[in-house]
Amino acid sequence: MNSFYFHNKVLHAESVSVSDLMEAYGSPLYIYSKNQIEFNWYQLEKAFGSHPHLICYAVKANSNLAVLNVLANLGSGFDVVSIGELERVIAVGGKPSLCVFSGVAKTKGAIQKALEYGIYCFNVESASELNLIESVANDIGIKAPISIRVNPNVDAKTHPYISTGLTENKFGVGADIALSLYKKASNSPHLDICGLDYHIGSQITDVIPFIEALDKALELIEELKVEKINLRHIDIGGGVGVKYNDEKTINIEKYIQSVLDKVGGLQVLIEPGRSIIGNAGIFVTKIEHLKQNNSKSFAIVDGAMNDLLRPALYGSYHHAVKVSENKKGIKAIWDIVGPVCETTDFLAKDRDLNLEEGDYIAILTAGAYGFVLSSNYNSRPRVAEVMVDKSSHAIVRKRETIESLFENELIFKNEIN
Ligand SMILES: Cc1ncc(COP(=O)(O)O)c(C=O)c1O
Repeated sequence: MNSFYFHNKVLHAESVSVSDLMEAYGSPLYIYSKNQIEFNWYQLEKAFGSHPHLICYAVKANSNLAVLNVLANLGSGFDVVSIGELERVIAVGGKPSLCVFSGVAKTKGAIQKALEYGIYCFNVESASELNLIESVANDIGIKAPISIRVNPNVDAKTHPYISTGLTENKFGVGADIALSLYKKASNSPHLDICGLDYHIGSQITDVIPFIEALDKALELIEELKVEKINLRHIDIGGGVGVKYNDEKTINIEKYIQSVLDKVGGLQVLIEPGRSIIGNAGIFVTKIEHLKQNNSKSFAIVDGAMNDLLRPALYGSYHHAVKVSENKKGIKAIWDIVGPVCETTDFLAKDRDLNLEEGDYIAILTAGAYGFVLSSNYNSRPRVAEVMVDKSSHAIVRKRETIESLFENELIFKNEIN
């Protein structure tokens, strides 16, 4: 299924013309497809069949309330990394009892709140964090459900900035430390050991590292059994890649089947972010100026790195297409760049397009790690977000105003002078 497609030479989001959306809501704009989110989620849900499982959507990938609401209505669980994310889930009717809490630096306050909400499980990242969870659980008299995040030391063969399963990365603990933490937890009346988790990175396009990590985790689970520590679930993390360019992606059904073939009766948790929301969103921006300097051609658009950071941060590739697929304009090899004063402020490089000032350019597969990584750099208000459901559409986050940029700032007044 592809919810963004050309019809009569105009890009559509479900049944709505993207040109119409731009006229209605202004530029730049994020546009999400509700049906694509549902399709992606159901594809994963189906892959598990009747095996006990819980899909915990990784809120960090896109935390817009409308997106979370679509998933909560499907009965999804969530993977959160802060109380802010947990509160978002609760605000849209998601169940805390279906939330896992990940992240390397949970604070005392966050742990207490999550316990009071009754989350499904803490994914514990260190001995120090386990001690803190135990002490908070003791203080408030609520037994804490825990899973230890194991760092399997597997090379996910993805961009180094989104690789998390190597010893050199800050995430999780090695198998030997995990074993000692489980032993300690098993002797605590304040901790309920429920699972083991790992997450080896993001935008992974080869299934082999996933299976390597799973095998290492299962080895550890066998060692735990010898110690009479029996887990209820294994959490295989997120990380399944999407198609930005011509990558070969992972077949979800086959991947999940190979997991199910190995885990016996253990419940399986999965924390997908990008594979649920990545291709369910686009970012659309308008050409303000065309500029050709000797051999170089720039299309200067009104969207920038502060709106969509991935190209600047990771050198990521996104397809860039004209919303109106015509041959009008100047044919050249264009860099599509924003107005921010940084050389890294580009959305796409070296694209063979016919362009005119005023054209809308859609940056595809921008639903994940798009808006959430946006900022107000260069005092630019954050852009609006819109959701489409067949022929209906509505704003799901208002465009910020200039006034909102400095509403929390105060002029310093020196009271002494
Ligand atoms: C612990 C954890 N789980 C899940 C995810 C989601 O990963 P992805 O969006 O690649 O599926 C991340 C993202 O890096 C993560 O850190």
